[in-house]
Amino acid sequence: MNSPESRTFLQADTLQEALPQLWEALQHKVDRMIEQIGSKSPHVATRDSGIYDDMRHDWWTSGFWPGILWIMYEMTGKEHYKQAAWGWDEKFEQKSIQVSNFHHDVGFQYLPTAVIKYKLTGDEEGKRRGLAAANFLAGRFNIAGNFLRAWNQDKTGWSIVDSSMNLSILFWAAEEIADPRFTHIAKAHADTVANHFIRPDGSVNHIVSFDPLTGEVIESLGGQGAGPDSAWSRGAAWALHGMANTYRYTGDTKYLHAAQRVAHYFLSMLPDDHVAHWDFRAAESLDAEPRDTSAASCAASGLLELAAALPPVQGNPYRKAAERILLSLTQNYATWDRPEHEAILLAGTGHKPANSNVDVSLIYGDYYYVEALAKLLGWKTRIF
Ligand code: GLY
Repeated sequence: MNSPESRTFLQADTLQEALPQLWEALQHKVDRMIEQIGSKSPHVATRDSGIYDDMRHDWWTSGFWPGILWIMYEMTGKEHYKQAAWGWDEKFEQKSIQVSNFHHDVGFQYLPTAVIKYKLTGDEEGKRRGLAAANFLAGRFNIAGNFLRAWNQDKTGWSIVDSSMNLSILFWAAEEIADPRFTHIAKAHADTVANHFIRPDGSVNHIVSFDPLTGEVIESLGGQGAGPDSAWSRGAAWALHGMANTYRYTGDTKYLHAAQRVAHYFLSMLPDDHVAHWDFRAAESLDAEPRDTSAASCAASGLLELAAALPPVQGNPYRKAAERILLSLTQNYATWDRPEHEAILLAGTGHKPANSNVDVSLIYGDYYYVEALAKLLGWKTRIF
């Protein structure tokens, strides 16, 4: 499968045509990654080295590699994926009883580990850890401003659009123990995202700073985007996917419409190869700006969520847009010809304003690529 002759999916005209062989190639790739990554908690791999780093277990990205393994397990039934994925939620819990820096991103960490482990295997420890993470996230809710506090230290009033993706752990907990407290909090935060983060034109703020005492909005901040008025593409992807998930859990069309607004802006800003630049307003001409394949893959998965939420006549355009993005990622931004490379996708952008992790592989880009392809192949369990 790794020989160039067997990679005809790289010449396919449509993703549907590419998909069967691509999925087979992806399994070979992930099997190799299991050997290469070993016990590491991968976050970033540089283009040249192709070697994933080993990040601390309280870092927000620690759930994505196990998440890939759990999806592979469910899709194939092969035990080695389950074995490689099994121990991660326990490692996070061990870290959480030490001095650590867990924050709102426990959703990103415990959904693709503890929660999916429980869903797929019935493991009670996974359920307990998932519920503990939901309680932790709920405890970060600021009732005066109706927002989930993002980070720690002095960022008491800061909330960030990325939290849209963490809401799923609250909705899951509400369903699991039949307790709507978690839903109330998730919906209150989702309303704040719709009202204060998603702009009328569908572009998105990264950070909104609130007065933590009164709940009033102080200002918007550029964060990982180019500036306060810019349009950070991964932030848009978080909002798109997160609002589509929120609609799935609540059935409230205001979240569907919020997701559609972001989707329409996102799609209108894509270049010819359908893979987003890191910020749609980074410069007047984006030609020299880096891409962000993680924004592309996360948005593609969110577009598939939107497609699934709508009747075919409305949903198909979103599915087709997702397929165009995924085909381009597959054919123009992946590592098929570099088997020694430990990642799937190239050309992610972590934090451009800090000049940190630009033109690298990002484990969350890899995760959402796998998640989106699995959805196209009929995967029904939802993590986010
Ligand atoms: N959640 C942090 C990021 O998107 O980079």
